Amino acid sequence: MKNTTQSENRQTIALNLENFVHELIVESPGRINLIGEHIDYNGGHVLPAAIDKKIKLYLKRNNTRKCNVWSKNFDNGFSFSIDDVGISNVEWENYILGVIHYIDQIYPGSIHGFDCIVESELPMGSGLSSSAALECGIATGLNNLFAIGLTKDEIIHLSRDAEHNYVGTKCGIMDQFTVVRGQKDRLILLNCQNLEYRMIQADLEPYHLVLLNSNVSHNLASSEYNNRRADCEAALAIIEKDHPNYHYLVDVPEDVLKSFKEDLTPTMFDRAAYVIQENRRTQLAAEALEKGFFEEFGRLLFESHHGLRNNYEVSCEELDFMVDYAKTQKGVLGARMMGGGFGGCTINVVHKDEISSYIERISIAYRKQFGIDLTPIEVSISDAVEVIK
Ligand code: GLA
Repeated sequence: MKNTTQSENRQTIALNLENFVHELIVESPGRINLIGEHIDYNGGHVLPAAIDKKIKLYLKRNNTRKCNVWSKNFDNGFSFSIDDVGISNVEWENYILGVIHYIDQIYPGSIHGFDCIVESELPMGSGLSSSAALECGIATGLNNLFAIGLTKDEIIHLSRDAEHNYVGTKCGIMDQFTVVRGQKDRLILLNCQNLEYRMIQADLEPYHLVLLNSNVSHNLASSEYNNRRADCEAALAIIEKDHPNYHYLVDVPEDVLKSFKEDLTPTMFDRAAYVIQENRRTQLAAEALEKGFFEEFGRLLFESHHGLRNNYEVSCEELDFMVDYAKTQKGVLGARMMGGGFGGCTINVVHKDEISSYIERISIAYRKQFGIDLTPIEVSISDAVEVIK
């Protein structure tokens, strides 16, 4: 793959929404995940949903070979020739460059020069997957702008490939799938092995989902994410030697895993145990939700956090503090860290009458402990990425 060349084609052109005459606007949602964390890349079940917090992309063709992208939030942008889409050393640029590269692999020459302004209401590093929103948003926008004919499945997969090979995070498929397939008021029970899915009514009345952003985002996220994936693949490779029928870590029964205790490193063993248990928890949680057993559902969320903290080790002290605190609170059925980890949000299941007092109390306690203000984020479950003319 090519490296960035600082040719004159890369001189940035600033764009301003005030006088920008767009041809189309794309609204691309973030996502929440109720349970099933770090198991999408292990062939597990996840329970995510798209949300009403979004990234908006304003797009128009410019009849040149040049592409100009401007981030309203960063007040910064970049320009490049469509004939020179190498990897950049600025991370967010790679979400866009990667998507363009992979669209071009499927439909060579289909993209021409364009101008794009990106405006986001998704805080980065908060576990709401602003990355997938950006990837699937630009893919959907370009698909429409140039009438390329990409299918939803192609958009999901090429966006994931962009993240793997341009950004460098070896993510699973959950985020891109949710951004492209989400539906209002529905959770997606997704089997990440074969992408079969079932929509579940997101109705927890009188309980609501409350997101609390810890406002910390530890740098480890991307490198440690890839390390976790590598640990899981290494564990599976050892087990597969004796059991060639298991192609995914989630499929290994727990007693089989136990029989490998001596063959795996303690770290690999812990990671694998978490993965197998979390997959079961997710299926139980979906069942509990459908039957209206909300206390059971909440308990599974606490258990999920316990595993993420102790066995999978992707939490951090700020998130642990918030979840421990949640356990002591009236009207809170469950809470856990959400997304890749090492910071970002917790997701909490809270009785609607207790929400404001809970937020007030936990905010005070968190500030006292860390000197940081947490941010409650109100979300409702919403539709997938869409083009608005
Ligand atoms: C990130 C990745 C997803 C998933 C989650 C953890 O959001 O992009 O694929 O692995 O972390 O569940």
